Amino acid sequence: MASLQTWTKNFLGWVFFCCCCFLPLLLTSPLPPKAAGVASTTHHTCRLRKLNFQPYIRNRTYTLAKMARVSDEDTDNRLIGQQLYVNVKENNRCYMMKRIVEIVVKDVLLTEVKDQYPYASEVVQFFASLTSELSKCKFSGHREHIEKNLEEMKTKIKELGDNGKTKAIGELDLLFDYIENACTDIPKKAGNKKKN
Ligand SMILES: *[C@@H]1O[C@H](CO)[C@@H](O)[C@H](O)[C@H]1NC(C)=O
Repeated sequence: MASLQTWTKNFLGWVFFCCCCFLPLLLTSPLPPKAAGVASTTHHTCRLRKLNFQPYIRNRTYTLAKMARVSDEDTDNRLIGQQLYVNVKENNRCYMMKRIVEIVVKDVLLTEVKDQYPYASEVVQFFASLTSELSKCKFSGHREHIEKNLEEMKTKIKELGDNGKTKAIGELDLLFDYIENACTDIPKKAGNKKKN
């Protein structure tokens, strides 16, 4: 019995020894290419094709926004703007816009408000399809500033009540442009660079 125990001990010792010596060797060589692959797909998942932004749906979205703006007299508040990007790294902007679109779809477009506007269901479908294409898009680094800016926007919509929803619909044209800019590779306009 004792010899079996010793044998087991020795065997486990060997297993442990082998793991310590050979596992690092095994891990170090294939890791770099693998990590690079992961990094590039992570980047790829936060990209939309330019093809998503067809003139037809742009027109529908802009028209819907224009209609809503008729009944929005409050010009002091702005929901979609550069303040959303404060302290947010450039490579997280697409993720940020994805989250904004999710909020606008869920808290605004899918509420009773949509029945008041023509094209609303088409536009909802369009934005929902963008977020589903971006379903694997994740942030990198710290998320606290992202969450803080999102929370501020949500709070603002809530505080403005029904007018907050109207305002959000009135800014769908901005949202359209922002997510297009953040998630597709379009040539940057000169002097349009924002630092943060
Ligand atoms: C949308 O298209 C219609 C018809 O082609 C045009 O009259 C209208 O001005 C367009 N609206 C916007 C906001 O681009």
